[in-house]
Amino acid sequence: MPQHIAVIMDGNGRWAKKRGMPRTAGHKVGAETFRSIATYCKDIGVKYFTVYAFSTENWKRPAEEVDTLMNLFRRYLKEAIETMAEKNVAVQVIGDLSVLAEDIQKLIADCNREAQNLENPAIATLCINYGGRDEIKNAVRALARKVQAGELLPEDITESMISEHLYTAAMPDPDLIIRPSGEIRTSNFLLWQSAYAEYYFTDILWPDFKPEHLEQAIEAYNKRQRRYGGIG
Ligand code: FPP
Repeated sequence: MPQHIAVIMDGNGRWAKKRGMPRTAGHKVGAETFRSIATYCKDIGVKYFTVYAFSTENWKRPAEEVDTLMNLFRRYLKEAIETMAEKNVAVQVIGDLSVLAEDIQKLIADCNREAQNLENPAIATLCINYGGRDEIKNAVRALARKVQAGELLPEDITESMISEHLYTAAMPDPDLIIRPSGEIRTSNFLLWQSAYAEYYFTDILWPDFKPEHLEQAIEAYNKRQRRYGGIG
């Protein structure tokens, strides 16, 4: 079983368009899919489940669409705070959170506080205002500041140090990254962390994604031989 599964939740807009509905309807159903797949992951013993919920580029979308997404995050975070103890799932949010609405930042802080009371929980991570390059840039800046302060020599910078300065510092790298909806690119998602991840692409649109599709992805993952650059 992969320990960490990550998903690029793609295809909501096309799902809605096919049904003559507004794009926002696709995101609403996509949020339900997220709930059911996160629960399923936990039930089958996947420790980490991470989703790309809003990229640093998604602000370019129409205000109504951005508002709908932010409201879906609000609703989910409130629900997570209420149900976290019962489900033993720690919900966390990563990304550049400084520009999110204050009430959302507060919900995220409340979630983190609530998560501290859990014992060995499954971890569900929402990437919001997340960009892989932005994340690496922030890590580089943090390390540069340490060099500037005389705390670190450039030649002493290691790959682990870079990992430790990413938003995902406390998490293992993803084993399996799933992208539904027929698109075959990484779109700036977990760029550093995906170095040895197995990718799985499917034409299913995210709102149609069911546990059986996750099972198919895990089955494909289990047939692959991970060599990490060696010869196996
Ligand atoms: C990309 O599909 C999807 C997004 C930009 C948003 C993903 C967010 C959700 C599914 C809501 C998640 C909510 C919670 C509570 C986690 P797209 O809209 O670009 O699809 P398209 O390529 O078909 O247009």
